[in-house]
Amino acid sequence: MAAKLGILGSGNGSNMEAIADACQRGQLPAEVAIVLSDVSDAPILARARERGIQACQIDPGHFRSKLSDEAEQQIIDTLKAAQIDWVILAGFMRIIKSDFLRAYPERIVNIHPSLLPSFPGLNAPQQALDYGVGVTGTTVHIVDQGIDTGAIIAQEPVRVQSDDTPERLHQRIKETEHQLYPQALSELITGRIQVTGRTITRST
Ligand code: GRF
Repeated sequence: MAAKLGILGSGNGSNMEAIADACQRGQLPAEVAIVLSDVSDAPILARARERGIQACQIDPGHFRSKLSDEAEQQIIDTLKAAQIDWVILAGFMRIIKSDFLRAYPERIVNIHPSLLPSFPGLNAPQQALDYGVGVTGTTVHIVDQGIDTGAIIAQEPVRVQSDDTPERLHQRIKETEHQLYPQALSELITGRIQVTGRTITRST
């Protein structure tokens, strides 16, 4: 049976669309069963609904960078009711706390627009330009209690160009993400990649 994915995002939803497209093409043996957002007018919700995917906003509570306990519980309950197997973060701008991690152990995945452990946190393309690196990229990782610190599943470099702005660099990173994220999820979901703590085992 196809794995059921629950996607959480706060913004545009281009990665959500890349994942949903890969499912439709049969490249990813999964189904995007639900999309949740902490932002009521986030384009990710409209883009999901256009595709016939159930999409809901959850009131995040009054913190800026985390969810209230109630909001987190509501998200967990919604995902469990939808029988979600994997939680996929795609531009979700809030920290995941331990109750949520315990509800989906090693089953919450994130994509970050840098080659971790360089440039974790906010505005990674801007951080890369400020530092002056020649190469940055994107990383798919398991979510743990830290910020962008979990076990690394896949990475892909993106070259920085001399006339890059943060927006232009981020756009090229996203184009790479749209290939990498579905591929990495396919390997995880089919068990070709196994995760134990920080150890990743690949079967041939
Ligand atoms: C991506 O660059 C992802 O790496 C980061 O947030 C961005 C989300 O973009 N975590 P989108 O909403 O998928 O277009």
